[in-house]
This record gives sequence, C-alpha cells and structure tokens, in this order.
Amino acid sequence: MTITDRFNRPVFSLRISITTRCNINCFYCHNDGIMPQDYEMSPSEIFRIAKIAKEIGIKKIRISGGEPLIRKDIIDIVKKISSLGFRDVSLTTNGTLLGKYAKDLLDAGLNRVNISFDTLNSKTYLFITKKDYLEKAKEGIKKAVEVGLYPVKVNMVVMKGVNHHEIWDMFQFCRENNAILQLIELLKTENCPDSEFFDEYRYKMAGIEKELARISNKVKKRQFMQDRKKYFINGGEIEVVRPMDNTEFCKNCTRIRITPDGKLKPCLLKNDDLVDLIGPINQGYSDKQLKELFLIAIKNREPFYKKYVK
Ligand code: 5AD
Repeated sequence: MTITDRFNRPVFSLRISITTRCNINCFYCHNDGIMPQDYEMSPSEIFRIAKIAKEIGIKKIRISGGEPLIRKDIIDIVKKISSLGFRDVSLTTNGTLLGKYAKDLLDAGLNRVNISFDTLNSKTYLFITKKDYLEKAKEGIKKAVEVGLYPVKVNMVVMKGVNHHEIWDMFQFCRENNAILQLIELLKTENCPDSEFFDEYRYKMAGIEKELARISNKVKKRQFMQDRKKYFINGGEIEVVRPMDNTEFCKNCTRIRITPDGKLKPCLLKNDDLVDLIGPINQGYSDKQLKELFLIAIKNREPFYKKYVK
C-alpha cells in the first residue's frame, strides 16, 4: 500500500532530520529547510515515529541533519530504525566522522550514505566549510565504500567561481573510489543567506547536462526521484539534481520530512504547514491517532512550484 496526496503523488519516503547541529559550517547550507532548534528527538521517539511511518506505507528512510553523526546515540538510532524492515535506510553526512563510524553504521543496518562533499581543493574546502577537514572527509568517503555501504554518493553543490571548474576532477575522484557523483544546483530556501549570495554563486546546470548527454554511454531518468537524470560515462556515474524552478522536481516528489523536534514537514521549501508529533506523543496519543496526523500532513501536501502542477 502506498498513499498518495491530492496531486496524485505517491508518498513513500521519509527524511528524518535528527539534529540541526553540525561540525562544519557551509555558507550555503539550507539545513534541510529547518530553522535551528534545541530539542532533539530521543531514539525511542524516532523509533515510534518510524514505526508509524512504516505502517502508513513509507518504504524508504533517510536520516539527515545538521550532521547526524554528531549525535552520540547515532548507532542506536540507526539500529532502531533498521529493525523495522524498511526497503532502504540511508544517511546524509559530511563524511568527516565516517572514518570512525562507517563499519558500525553498516552493522547497525544502514544501507547507504550520501556524502556532502564539494571540492578536492583544501583552500576551497576551507572557504566553503570554515573547517580544515578535507582529508577527514576524503577518508570518510573511502571508508564508506570499503566497508560496503552501497551505493556511496557524493553530493557536490556546484557554485559559480567556487567549484564549478572541479566537476571533472570530482568525477574522476568518485570513479576511482567507486562512488557516484551527484551534481546539485544551488537552492534558495527561507533560511538561506540573502539572495545576493544566490545570484553570485548560482551555476546553471543546463550547459553541463548538455555536455553530459553528449559524452555519456547511457542516460536514465529516475521517475520517482524528481525525474533526475543519471548519466553513465566510461564506468562512472553522474546524477544531476535541479530543484530550482523545476516543476518536475515537485511533480515527482515522493517525500515528507520530520524535523529534529518531531514535526512532520511536508515540503523542503515551506515551513507554514508543519504538523507536530511530539506533543501528541507526550499526551499519550495512540498509534491510530498518530497515523491520522501523518495522513493529514500528507493530504495537505502542496507542490511548491504549484502553478505548474496539474
Ligand atoms: N543548495 C543546494 N544543496 C544544498 N545542500 C545544503 N544546502 C544547499 C543549498 N543551499 C545539500 C548538501 C547536502 C544535501 C542534504 O543538501 O550538499 O548534500
């Protein structure tokens, strides 16, 4: 069973943000569309919510942040979530702590990781993150592949004048290390810095996509992944994620989110439609009542680029 919203979009994936804290400080970070907050759900609250999600038909879980590996109880959280038997449990990380945790994460039942990693240049890394962790992050990527998390994807936010000229080096690095490169277009959200930053750094991906199409051996469209394209080039893979002003991005969106303080968030780009779960959990709501809250949030889901979605 999969539930669909009023726009006939199936909803089968859930992103659970477990903290807004992070050990690096990327200047462009939208923090998954979530404002910084103090409260962080406990492993048992996360388990309860994931269990309800499973029961309403969620098949895939992504754990995100902030930086999820900053939480001391991360292994317990992953164990609890994966004990529920989802088709896919993945995690988004900046990789700096993966050298330490990759094996334990795999043993706890994690399937795969996406690693936010934008540059191979130490000065550029410092400029983007304010931290000197380039080597740590590289080590994390290698370790994730080595222990058998699969597939390992490297998320590169492409920014004009910052790292756009590194796309091919990054592709080379990923191919050598058996990782998939995902090129991500810079996205503006409510809690991003001002729009000047966006105008200054936005790099339009259309030209790159043309080039990729020209040189790739094969192209695949990922239907339920916001229609992203996947290019296969000489034994390597590149995916392109273009959320900005992209109606397909919304039309094919299958996700809902949970904020670290336990609110259902139906859309990355909106904050006016959150549905609290922790209050109700503390008030002793039954599973059936919690399921209803999930269903309300899903029913109220509205595509951000709505005017184009029929
Ligand atoms: N634009 C595009 N991608 C972003 N991410 C964070 N902030 C932005 C932004 N403003 C990406 C990170 C990470 C993923 C969870 O979101 O690179 O890989």
